[in-house]
Amino acid sequence: MSILGVESVVFGVADVAQHARFWTDFGLPVESIGADEAVFRLASGSRVIVLAHGDVRLPTPDPFPGDGVKETVWGVDTQANLDAIAASLRTEVAVFRDEDGTIHAVCPDGQPIALRVWVKRSFASEVSPVNTPASHPRFNQHRIWRQRAIPKTINHVVFFSPDYVSSFEFYERHLGFRYIDHSKGVGIFARAGGTYEHHSIFWVNCDLPIAPDHFKFMHIAFGMDDIDEVMLGANIMEAKGWKNTSMNASGGISRHRISSAIYYYCDIPGHAGEAEYHADTDYLDDNWVPRAWDFRFGSLLWANNAPPIFRGPDIPWDMEFDAERKSFEPYRKAKAGRQQIDGALAALTQDDEHAI
Ligand SMILES: [Fe+2]
Repeated sequence: MSILGVESVVFGVADVAQHARFWTDFGLPVESIGADEAVFRLASGSRVIVLAHGDVRLPTPDPFPGDGVKETVWGVDTQANLDAIAASLRTEVAVFRDEDGTIHAVCPDGQPIALRVWVKRSFASEVSPVNTPASHPRFNQHRIWRQRAIPKTINHVVFFSPDYVSSFEFYERHLGFRYIDHSKGVGIFARAGGTYEHHSIFWVNCDLPIAPDHFKFMHIAFGMDDIDEVMLGANIMEAKGWKNTSMNASGGISRHRISSAIYYYCDIPGHAGEAEYHADTDYLDDNWVPRAWDFRFGSLLWANNAPPIFRGPDIPWDMEFDAERKSFEPYRKAKAGRQQIDGALAALTQDDEHAI
């Protein structure tokens, strides 16, 4: 079973024109913009599709109220593998097949998914060599100059889950996703088997004080060439008047310790979640050994204005290799519904959301 990554995400929104403006300003290449639908297609071939609430192409029932990603479409390398995934899913959930061969299902956590055969495109993506005081690979050269920030890939999607360990295990069982890292009590990072980005999906624990108590879209991350392109995009979005509520909380730009990625979030209009510019993430294969982290240590490598919970001398340098998944056990759900969490996790606030 080889899933190559996110082939498309399907947003359901109240104001298609506003969202079309947002994604155009964000730098996504426009394929078509109409009254009821906007489609953007990245260099990798992945698409962002924006539909109006009530559109028959959106999943029914609506997985959560309001705007956001209502369906995640995974791209599969071959028809035989798509058929194998459909057969596997059918042992546990209902599977519906479209006339075009796309299959649809709803995961036990409430996430509508679809899968279709996908020819992922190759594309150019280059960075300037990085100099240090004693190493000068960019000798007698200036850095690449850019005028536009152009996302190349959909790197990952993030959803709140009422049972994040089970959400991952369902994906592993039927879609062949790999366990990559566990931010203990916060969520699990998992990679589709046919791509090298650190994670293709991250499920965030609904029991956290920052989370809703039901399945919901949280954010989507796009691959950028480097930190210059991320900052150019951030400046363009600010100049166009789009909000970044994480700017107040975490200084806007930072680097995660888990995944090593530089990140910058913009608020998607309609309280639909966030769009993330993402650069210099870890790329890895099945030689990777999963790790379990204290969330305060794993979240940030640095920030110019990190929320207090991620700062100070009390942050434990807590990371263990976790190939045997011992870290999952305390976070398995004994029963459905919201459960009490304690310690530093219980102290998380909305201001901390963008740093995890
Ligand atoms: Fe992210």
